Amino acid sequence: MVGMWDDGRLCHGGDYNPEQWPAATWREDVALMRRARVNLVTVGVFAWSRLEPAPGRYDFGWLDEVLDLLHDGGIRVALATPTASPPPWFSLAHPDALPVTADGVRLHHGSRDTYCAAAPSYRAAARGIAATLAARYAHHPALAMWHVHNEYGTTCHCPHTEAAFRRWLVDRHGDLDALNAAWATSFWSQHYTDWAYVSTPRATQYLGNPGHLLDFRRFWSDTLLAAYVEQRDLLKAANPAVPVTTNYVLGDWVPVDHARWAREVDLVAIDHYPSVVDGGAEEQTALAADLARGWARHGHTRAATPRGPAGPTRADPPATWLLMESAASQIHTTGRAHTKEPGRMARHSLSHVARGSRGAMFFQWRAPAGGAERFHSALVPHTGADSRVFRESVRLGETLDRLAEITAGETTASVALAWDAASGWALRHPGMPSALLDGHAELAAAHRALWRAGYGCDVVVPGDPLDRYRLLVLPALYLADDATAGWVHDHVEAGGHLLVSYLSGVADPHARVHLGGYPGAYRDLLGLRVEEFHPLAADEQVLLSGGGTGRIWSETVHLRGAEPVGTYVGGVLDGRPAVTRHRVGTGTTWYLSTRPDDGTYRRLVTEAARVAGVDPVCPAAPPGVEAVRRAAPGTSWLFLLNHTDRPQRVPADGLDLLTGVPADGEVTLPAGGAAVLREHPR
Ligand code: GLA
Repeated sequence: MVGMWDDGRLCHGGDYNPEQWPAATWREDVALMRRARVNLVTVGVFAWSRLEPAPGRYDFGWLDEVLDLLHDGGIRVALATPTASPPPWFSLAHPDALPVTADGVRLHHGSRDTYCAAAPSYRAAARGIAATLAARYAHHPALAMWHVHNEYGTTCHCPHTEAAFRRWLVDRHGDLDALNAAWATSFWSQHYTDWAYVSTPRATQYLGNPGHLLDFRRFWSDTLLAAYVEQRDLLKAANPAVPVTTNYVLGDWVPVDHARWAREVDLVAIDHYPSVVDGGAEEQTALAADLARGWARHGHTRAATPRGPAGPTRADPPATWLLMESAASQIHTTGRAHTKEPGRMARHSLSHVARGSRGAMFFQWRAPAGGAERFHSALVPHTGADSRVFRESVRLGETLDRLAEITAGETTASVALAWDAASGWALRHPGMPSALLDGHAELAAAHRALWRAGYGCDVVVPGDPLDRYRLLVLPALYLADDATAGWVHDHVEAGGHLLVSYLSGVADPHARVHLGGYPGAYRDLLGLRVEEFHPLAADEQVLLSGGGTGRIWSETVHLRGAEPVGTYVGGVLDGRPAVTRHRVGTGTTWYLSTRPDDGTYRRLVTEAARVAGVDPVCPAAPPGVEAVRRAAPGTSWLFLLNHTDRPQRVPADGLDLLTGVPADGEVTLPAGGAAVLREHPR
């Protein structure tokens, strides 16, 4: 099945919007795509108003021609359903399907995503255009996969949503007693005696109910998933052989539980746009790719992925996913677009590929002259093909072609970082003791510490098998039900090591606090009890023994078997434990009661990994050189990415697939460059 999009090569290409260009440009596009060895393009993402200019009146002539041109050029198509942007006529005919914000404002047509995913008329129209496209193109020879919608993530509070939310709550809680208990509604007179009294969490006078907000997030993720699934099923019915996916947008503002969604897609696909420039872009890239690989392990792809052309046969093929969108040349920071330095786009692409992506795709193929995103970067920029960016994309196409064999390898890691969407959502509640709490930032800080120390890591969700991991890290994994607590205990009882950061295991799945001392779910494993929180001001830091500092958070920790590794220096916590270690069977559990500065965090994970018997991927790699390994039985591939502006020498052996030059004991990476070594049999 997945063979339809898999020609044995890594994918190169991106969003292609022929509807924005005259037919003459399509021919030039295909010629340029061939030059850049583009082999997959996403077509039609926002083309609804051009496909169905009036209700029930279709215009497929242009798309027929474009698909044929692409097919003749040997370029495969991820054909999108255009449902992320209904046409103006739809919004006019169905004002009840326009989205309503939490404070009751109904949004209007004029941008994109102006629909409510719970509105029956929207859902019917979305099914309609999806079914029409399926009927026409499900057997088109250019069709490699279906790309449903775009970046599911927008919310709504209209009456349709409210009715659907109540139905979802009845399913989840059964009766109002259970809902009242879960949401602790005796607080502030919120006790419900009729389902009709329950609304979505609208703008209100003061703090909203944490359980209510959390359930709304879960409900909305399920609602968006249902909207995806009904399109997927129509597309599958037309031709079961064509894989179906949708592109995930990342960020904990996104009301989507991506791990849960992964079971419903044939291929996990993510869009990734780093938001910071210096160094952070590389760290964010690595984290996004590790997240995607974690989701892919939940999906169909693992079972369906064919072997790489040169790869050995193996029973358990690597978890594959696809970087569906990235930026050819810009990093969009707050208020400014930073132009990527030469080579940086390729390094970002290779970082994704090293971590399991089946290629590197971009938004967008050609930069448009008009429209809201006219200054977004593109593989063919406004300047045209005679440009640095296009030349780099041609080089990337060549690079990806040389790397086809690496798809046989699985990205290896002995450290697991645990993450679940609901914990991130719950930490955002404004009634938390600090407005600085940010679950995704905690995940990123732990990941950054491991990344900078050179360790590979997998991102897992509670319940995932942990047998391959020596060290499990819980970065502010706030919610823990019995199953999650049991999962962590089993890991430690089996001899695994554990590193837990503050606020992990503090609350149950409804965000109610586990009583008796924090962190209720893990205090026995950690050998301690936290009595009081001491959140820090935004510009405050605490000193730690050993010279480091802590930010955001501190706590009164009482030892119950654990030993201090570091203590607070000064202030009310002077001399009290800040970081602890506890021996449990043959494993060690570590606790961080504050957010250590990056250097201290890095030293701590290095020590925890050393005790757990885990080595960095390439211990001799100099600072600024990222190393990632993909391995298959008898073979491995070492990706070395030089993020510095100087050449770097790395002790290594193997054949550099990018240059064809053997590395015998050492490889020299050009400034900002990379090597991918097929290592000698290990
Ligand atoms: C997202 C969308 C694209 C485009 C890019 C811009 O990923 O899917 O349509 O808006 O962002 O970065």
